[in-house]
Amino acid sequence: MRRVSFEGLERLSDFEVDVRLIHSKSSNISLVNLNEGESFEIEKSDFEVHVVVLSGEIEMISGSIQDIFKAGCLASILPHQNVYINSLKISRVLVIRDNPVWVMRARRSVRKFSSVPVSKDLILKVIDNARLAPSGGNIQPWKVYLTSDSEKKKLLSEFSFNQQHVSQAPWVLVITAIPEESEKEYGLRGRELYSIQDTANLALYIMLSAKAFGLDSCWVGEFDEEKVRKVISAPENERPVVIIPMGYGEESPAAPERKPLNEILVEF
Ligand SMILES: Cc1cc2nc3c(=O)[nH]c(=O)nc-3n(C[C@H](O)[C@H](O)[C@H](O)COP(=O)(O)O)c2cc1C
Repeated sequence: MRRVSFEGLERLSDFEVDVRLIHSKSSNISLVNLNEGESFEIEKSDFEVHVVVLSGEIEMISGSIQDIFKAGCLASILPHQNVYINSLKISRVLVIRDNPVWVMRARRSVRKFSSVPVSKDLILKVIDNARLAPSGGNIQPWKVYLTSDSEKKKLLSEFSFNQQHVSQAPWVLVITAIPEESEKEYGLRGRELYSIQDTANLALYIMLSAKAFGLDSCWVGEFDEEKVRKVISAPENERPVVIIPMGYGEESPAAPERKPLNEILVEF
């Protein structure tokens, strides 16, 4: 018998995540509820062990189990990687239900990406979900430019003052605003404010959507707008607002401090 304990499980308590072990002996699959601090005995021969983290969508995840826990059970879909709990190999991890705020908690600006390829299908899923972002009058005055081309990524990196994560990520998105579309409906306020706010909403939705699909990203705002516009061949009426490098992260940065609630909250 091998004792499998979930160190770090208490870190999950505020994510309200249920962790279960499925151990299957041939077709015999049993589910075991594992609560915080509990451990479970598994026979050594029983190597078909699955960790099932209950969350909204079923996804395979991997990484060290502590990393997964730290990240609030985020789905990092790297099928070639192995997950171990106390040296017991876990063949796959499913995310079936979680606290809806986990994605907000788990997202970090990641500036080091793995060379593991990311399918275009997955990137398209990420963007497709993010189309739900709110915009003034639902005008959606934005475009999303996407590339995995090394030369183009190098140029984007150069024009972002040599930010290396821009060229290092497998995919790079450039989100542009189309101010005149908002202007038609809302005049100067639409042009100068709404179109930029809307595009920022889309960018953030994309980053959160990426996290939900197990991908990492970074908001890159420091770049030469004109030069970037030329690289992506965007027309004059579009304004590049954000560059988003995206891929599987190869670092897990600690969460930078935020101002406490009482410092930012003003009741009136
Ligand atoms: C408007 C804006 C511009 C940013 N520009 C850059 C940038 O050019 N390069 C970069 O690496 N990170 C950039 N960031 C990321 C921030 O540094 C990061 O969000 C912040 O430090 C908080 O860290 P977190 O995203 O991990 O919570 C930008 C973020 C925002 C919202």
